[in-house]
Amino acid sequence: MKIILIGYMGSGKSSIGKILSEKLNYKVIDLDDFIEDKEKMTVSEIFKTKGELYFRKKETVYVKELLELEGDFILSLGGGTPCYGTNMDIILEAKEAKSVYLKASLPKLSKKLFKKKAKRPLIAHISSEAQMMEFIGKHLFERSQFYSKAEFVVSTDDKTKKEVADAVLECMATLI
Ligand code: S3P
Repeated sequence: MKIILIGYMGSGKSSIGKILSEKLNYKVIDLDDFIEDKEKMTVSEIFKTKGELYFRKKETVYVKELLELEGDFILSLGGGTPCYGTNMDIILEAKEAKSVYLKASLPKLSKKLFKKKAKRPLIAHISSEAQMMEFIGKHLFERSQFYSKAEFVVSTDDKTKKEVADAVLECMATLI
């Protein structure tokens, strides 16, 4: 079984992926880390030197490559991965894979991302919390049509990370 974690930046994909990997004894792969390893550059450097379009092309190549791997693992995607090209269809059609949308509210995301914007090239330039809220609000509106195609949705507001991981496991348990 492959568990594919999707959701906006700051929704906890990477940290929930790590918790699930410990609980299930599955390997966890973080797509951004994988891209950085392959390209030998950080995501910010890729955006800066090669542009977003290059990043999106590589993101599609690598997500396909990873979804073709055999065996059990957890895959934490980037916030934009499901929203470009046919990536979301590829995710939904992947063999032995289930996708989970980690859904966080706009106020929670804005608050968290304003503090953690530096490594995220799409929002690093935003200089106030109000602007962050406006940017994310529009972005989430565009992106939620892709996120909501996921097979499961787990709301993360008012849950600890452990509770979110448990909720993901409960979704998987419905498949048995
Ligand atoms: C992006 C999200 C980032 C990273 C890149 C673009 C996006 O990943 O892939 O900066 O378009 O939302 P995280 O969701 O892990 O921050």
